Amino acid sequence: MAELKGRRLVLGVTGGIAAYKAAELARLLVKDGAEVHAVLSKSGAQFVTPVTFQALTGNPAWSDQWDARMPSNMAHIDLSRGADAIVVAPASADFLAKLAHGLADDLLSTLCLARVCPLIVAPAMNRQMWEHPATQRNKSQLLQDGVTILGPAEGEQACGETGLGRMLEAVQIHDALAGFFQPRVLAGRRVLLTAGPTFEALDAVRGLTNLSSGKMGFALARAARDAGAQVTLVSGPAAQPTPDGVMRIDVTSALAMHAAVMQRAAACDVFIGVAAVADYRPVEPVQEKIKKEDKPLQITLAPNPDILAEVAALPKPPFCVGFAAESHDLEKYAEGKRQKKKLALVVGNLVQDGFGGETNSVILFDDQGRHPLGPAPKIDIARGIVAHIGAMLAGNGGE
Ligand code: C5P
Repeated sequence: MAELKGRRLVLGVTGGIAAYKAAELARLLVKDGAEVHAVLSKSGAQFVTPVTFQALTGNPAWSDQWDARMPSNMAHIDLSRGADAIVVAPASADFLAKLAHGLADDLLSTLCLARVCPLIVAPAMNRQMWEHPATQRNKSQLLQDGVTILGPAEGEQACGETGLGRMLEAVQIHDALAGFFQPRVLAGRRVLLTAGPTFEALDAVRGLTNLSSGKMGFALARAARDAGAQVTLVSGPAAQPTPDGVMRIDVTSALAMHAAVMQRAAACDVFIGVAAVADYRPVEPVQEKIKKEDKPLQITLAPNPDILAEVAALPKPPFCVGFAAESHDLEKYAEGKRQKKKLALVVGNLVQDGFGGETNSVILFDDQGRHPLGPAPKIDIARGIVAHIGAMLAGNGGE
């Protein structure tokens, strides 16, 4: 990963037991290429120490406004200059109140008030504190002031209660931050995708499937979400976590995927068929387990509907994108598929480059010709595809 490469982030840590997760967040951000400068509030430093963040970020960590090590006597201003964002995780109820009222009585709150960069907060507190009208008022005020609020999540709390107020996990905050810096090229668009393999039942326990991992489709769902789209993902059996904010519909067979897509296709602006849909299904799946016999077994297969071709043939079709995974003659087959299925764009890749792995290397085929992308991690390829779709929709040809 290097999604945050070159980003300079101020990581604010305020008082709450979730402060221990901020250490993991600092590690993830640094691992992903960000330059991180930690600033702890006085109570934040009661839960974790600046030394922890110093070790994890490789940079001095700050807490005391009057720290004599400060590089200048304007540290409260300098630290946030040149920062791409200030991220406060966890943000306590008290800190949200301070931000909402413009208080600046310590280093972190002063930095937030004096900033010229975006402010992102991940609240963490007891559920009653979160639900309190005062906190809700502060939350509304912060949203009105342009602050981005991540979470909180619902679940078990350190106090033993269950409810809304848990800080998001470090990976979720990292994911949101990586998305935060992406251009909103699909703002307001509704994107429908298919991903993963399908499973065509043969009997009660067996079936026909393929080795698609779903990684490319899930990465595209994430990239489309980060580009500002409202995303629905119809997924075959794939062991991938659902990206936050993406509506996921799980299906098993090609027929179920077809039904789920056709129900929603007319209401989307962009349809991306990433799923490796089985071309055939057993005509009549046997309800019980087929018993072994000492003679050849014949299974008759019926062709599955071509979901993508059907969506592209709708009276008012969305912008349709297909994938072509080929083992040879990629250019010929991919462009052929684009013409035959009447698609605006086809993403071609050689199966040996992408199937199941973390990276991919693709060629985009459109009316203008061919545009190679990668080799790169699948999320980078996904962001490249989304940028190309955004540019085509905006009418400037994807260049
Ligand atoms: O023709 P082929 O299966 O190679 O085309 C691949 C593209 O078509 C992919 O985008 C895939 O998601 C889509 N497809 C589909 N329904 C099928 C077969 C393929 O949507 N039954």
